[in-house]
Amino acid sequence: MNKLLSASLMCADLTKIEESVVELKNAGIDYLHIDIMDGSFVPNITLGFDFVNAIKSITDVPLDVHMMVNEPSRFIDRMNLGKEDIICVHYESDVHIHRTLAQIKDKGIKAGLAVNPQTAVESFRYLTDYMDMALVMTVSPGFAGQKIFAGAERKTNDTRELLNELGCTEIPIEVDGNISLENGRKLSKCGADIFVLGTSGLFVKDKSIKQASEDFRKVL
Ligand code: DX5
Ligand code: ZN
Repeated sequence: MNKLLSASLMCADLTKIEESVVELKNAGIDYLHIDIMDGSFVPNITLGFDFVNAIKSITDVPLDVHMMVNEPSRFIDRMNLGKEDIICVHYESDVHIHRTLAQIKDKGIKAGLAVNPQTAVESFRYLTDYMDMALVMTVSPGFAGQKIFAGAERKTNDTRELLNELGCTEIPIEVDGNISLENGRKLSKCGADIFVLGTSGLFVKDKSIKQASEDFRKVL
């Protein structure tokens, strides 16, 4: 499966976001990752639905919306997304997550299912019919600049093994959190396909976005 890069916009320079989006597109970034947080499911509040719609209106780069909010089904209709975009919801955020995944897919948008570090890989087992992507969080979500958790490689590997066992070889695995060059290289070997790049791998001091993305692709 192709290895894809998803740029975490919460780590971009928000004071010149349009410029950053153009620079990301020119650097060949595959997705724009937009983290939505409600201050309750995770102890932070970042980007919102108006931001999603604004970004959607200025670029044709597909959006990868990561909803770290409780009861995400309440908000799916707030975003003007299309068949090339992904909405990723957390297993832990909704007592009827299957219904929410189906709601996303019924709108013709790709549906991703995310799991926090402590949530078992088995959580994916009975939901793969409603999934276009599995998001394995490699940090506890909520903040940029954190350190990858110790079980990230094993968990990524176990997720790939489970999906393959179920015949879901076409469901990609996204990893999100402290995806540095070194962590990206290791996780790629464990079966990761989509890499959320933030302060660890893309928005880094001494490199342009183009240089950082080229360097990252070299290790995959
Ligand atoms: C974490 C966020 C990601 C990412 C940021 O909750 O979802 O955007 O961690 O990138 P890093 O971890 O490299 O700063
Ligand atoms: Zn994210």
